[in-house]
Amino acid sequence: MVFTSLTPLSTELSRVRLEIRTLQPRLVQWRRSLHQYPELGFREHITAEFITRKLREWGIDHQTGIATTGVVAVIHGTQPGPVLAIRADMDALPIQEENQVPYCSLHDGMMHACGHDGHVAIALGTAYYLSKHRHTFAGTVKFIFQPAEEGPGGAKPMIEQGALRNPDVDAIIGLHLWNNLPVGTVGVRTGAMMAAVELFDCIIQGKGGHGAMPHQTVDSIVVGAQIVSALQTIVARNLDPLKSGVVTVGKFHAGAALNVIADTAELSGTVRYFDPGLTDFFNQRFEEIIAGICQSYGARYELNYRKLYPPVINNEAITNLVTSVVENVIETPLGIVPECQTMGGEDMSFFLQEVPGCFFFLGSANATKGLDYPHHHPRFDFDEIALGIGVEIFVRCVERYCALA
Ligand code: NI
Repeated sequence: MVFTSLTPLSTELSRVRLEIRTLQPRLVQWRRSLHQYPELGFREHITAEFITRKLREWGIDHQTGIATTGVVAVIHGTQPGPVLAIRADMDALPIQEENQVPYCSLHDGMMHACGHDGHVAIALGTAYYLSKHRHTFAGTVKFIFQPAEEGPGGAKPMIEQGALRNPDVDAIIGLHLWNNLPVGTVGVRTGAMMAAVELFDCIIQGKGGHGAMPHQTVDSIVVGAQIVSALQTIVARNLDPLKSGVVTVGKFHAGAALNVIADTAELSGTVRYFDPGLTDFFNQRFEEIIAGICQSYGARYELNYRKLYPPVINNEAITNLVTSVVENVIETPLGIVPECQTMGGEDMSFFLQEVPGCFFFLGSANATKGLDYPHHHPRFDFDEIALGIGVEIFVRCVERYCALA
């Protein structure tokens, strides 16, 4: 794709690129090894061992066992300067892989179906390159290999256990391989990039009975159906139409027989929004709507509403730095997809609450190679050309942010 056209902008630019391109076979090899041994959140032991083996081999200082399986590595430049962190998540998903490739998952029922194997390979490639080029940047680069992004979240416990301190991180960057964009593109924006993630479970307690005698019952299915419809009016009728939000009821379980009125109904789902000012808005409307409907039908309810991740908010200055780097790496005006946003969530948001930073999407789909299944699909895979592009973007971000005096 775009990356294979080697139009040199300057000798220095092309030298860095050529050297990173020689890393490409190893990036692919690391990613495929990781892909074969996917592990779920907080159980990334083989993955962490893979990472630390490489770091040891390259003489890079690191700490292990942070928030169970997290790894933090530090590379110092040859001059004093700022501290830039690069974050990569390590966990896989409970999905049975359906790809038939030589590097298929060897762990039954588990799969790197979101590309986090690629994130680790890109961070390792960046660490390897920088460890051999300490003279090209001032300050320190800290690599944060984080467990459990897919839930329940490894970023927060890593922060609590000091991942951003000693040395104190001034800014943080991270990426997500992104099959919603073709390889050779990057999606990014200042401000809210990914949504807050909130989850709910609601049990409606009615009164069961004979399917032919509804007057003797409180039908939890009828009450639940009213609640499902009414919850949709939060976005349609309560939220400022210039803001965005999603309410999804993903589970609705009730009843066991066709002639019995169900005693209880269980609803579960997720809420998404970008504006941090809405942090209490949905929770409050849920309470009001569910309480009101249940009261009017004589049902009782239990609502468990919880906040998982805050929205991913990109800092303007760091995003401008990333964008200007990407403009050099991807030499086409179509390479940057501006104002890229998704209602997906990410616990990178916790790091971005602590220090200014930028999270961006690295395009990784290639339809002509059949590599365009969506994330979390049992046939998800991506174009590995993106690995080298990711390393080049990170390396150049370091050289720009930690510029030599
Ligand atoms: Ni992911």
